[in-house]
Amino acid sequence: MPCGQEITRSSRRRSRSNSKESFCQTNKLMNSKALIDTANALVAGDKGLLAMDESNPTCNKRFAKLGIPQTEVARRAYRELIVATPGLTESISGAILYDETIRQKTKDGTPFAKVFGEVGIIPGIKVDTGAKEMAGHPGEKVTEGLDGLRERLAEYSKMGARFAKWRAVIAIGDGLPSRGCIESNAHALARYAALCQEASIVPVVEPEVLMVGEHTLERCLKITQEVLRNVFIQLNCQRVLLEGMILKPNMVLPGLTCPEQVSVDEVADATVNCLLRTVPAAVPGIAFLSGGQSAELASARLNAMNVRFKSRLPWALAFSFARAIQQPALEIWQGKETEVQEAQEALYHRARCNLAARRGEYNATVERDGWKRSPQGGTSAKHLVSAE
Ligand code: 13P
Repeated sequence: MPCGQEITRSSRRRSRSNSKESFCQTNKLMNSKALIDTANALVAGDKGLLAMDESNPTCNKRFAKLGIPQTEVARRAYRELIVATPGLTESISGAILYDETIRQKTKDGTPFAKVFGEVGIIPGIKVDTGAKEMAGHPGEKVTEGLDGLRERLAEYSKMGARFAKWRAVIAIGDGLPSRGCIESNAHALARYAALCQEASIVPVVEPEVLMVGEHTLERCLKITQEVLRNVFIQLNCQRVLLEGMILKPNMVLPGLTCPEQVSVDEVADATVNCLLRTVPAAVPGIAFLSGGQSAELASARLNAMNVRFKSRLPWALAFSFARAIQQPALEIWQGKETEVQEAQEALYHRARCNLAARRGEYNATVERDGWKRSPQGGTSAKHLVSAE
């Protein structure tokens, strides 16, 4: 074969492979941009996330306590109550759904994810399949759900999900957590996050250090720091784009049965110090879980963090509460059609309180009187009752 022909062929091959490479680069850049835009949108405007992704067993447990039937019909009706709450979009940027919920529709046949999308609330999806007993580690759990995740993400993406959530649980106890538990959970979180980003879905990375126990604030601080350090080591190993993710951690708190409970400001200091030591500035937002705190305390603690630190933090401090937003509404509803409106008002109120907490404007008056509705039926910051 003449030399020139060989050169032409190989340069054609090279140019084909160059253009394939640049196509991949462009795709990667577009993917990164989409991830970064969505992650930023989730914490923009002082809004936060509403977690309504309780698995069926968890949802049923909460229903059972209130005498609500544990059926698909009741779960759908409850989720429709949430989806149809007027004005939710004023304080909620994204809602995390569960597999059953993302497939459900309103009474008039519109998928929940579509209803949210239409009012500007970004639909998200819980994709882990639960925390399971960890072999060889009594009292500890590891979260499962990586098998088939790529395919499930593709399906959820078609249903409108633009972000996802995976929760790992870390218990504090005698000799717990173990290194094995922390590392396995951090590794799984990072593998999940990488798969999400490949699918242009923003991962919400949730390593939850549980409140259950007698441990002190200092011990929770030490363990949360260790967990977060491991999580970011693993996220870096798995090449996760930090700008395109949200961290969903616990607040740093003493255990529920610890005799030494602490002030709201002490929780704010410990939590923010912990995050400053462990979370890279590239992460756009930190959206706390509530973990079983009362709704009022969760708002007050988030508020204290923003009052004391907001102006000097590299990331937004937001919320991604389930119980601390939903519980009062669920207790009002109790499965009764007649209580839907009052329950929606309670849900709206909690969401507004947390918006106020992001602004450092939450206080007892806001808690009691809420944000007054404007004549148009909406609300605006102007209507926030001023600080006491
Ligand atoms: P809580 O706010 O009730 O802790 O729930 C947050 C969550 O999403 C749990 O995974």
